[in-house]
Amino acid sequence: MTKEENLIKWDPKFKIGIPVIDAQHEHLVNLCNDFYQSLLKSKDKENYQSLVKQTLENCLNYAATHFKEEERLMKASNFDGYRQHKHSHDSFTAKCQITYESIDTISISEAIKFSLFLYEWINTHIAHEDRLYLPTLVEFLKNQQTK
Ligand SMILES: [Fe+2]
Repeated sequence: MTKEENLIKWDPKFKIGIPVIDAQHEHLVNLCNDFYQSLLKSKDKENYQSLVKQTLENCLNYAATHFKEEERLMKASNFDGYRQHKHSHDSFTAKCQITYESIDTISISEAIKFSLFLYEWINTHIAHEDRLYLPTLVEFLKNQQTK
């Protein structure tokens, strides 16, 4: 495997410490990786679109499921950064939707560029924005357990 093929990988350092969220993040990074790998596999092929489309669809569908769960927990715990965080999820989703709709017509190199954007966004989001709700959520989940 080249260095480039290793770019998208789940790393335990991405863990934020809430098991349910960490498991979802890991799955999301892996699906993003599947999409990237499907692009690399498709580089020299003509009919690559269906595989690429399927792996991207899996990734985006799972991102939507994960965002819903995060938003549900942020709301339930009365996290005061909820609106801003949801806005960040929504603008990411909107950008991905546009690319998904044009995936049949864009070049492989453009699609690879997009996969790197996906990876960067997910990692930065996990490393920074998701950490903002951490204290509120940890407290909330602790109280839930003792109820
Ligand atoms: Fe998030």
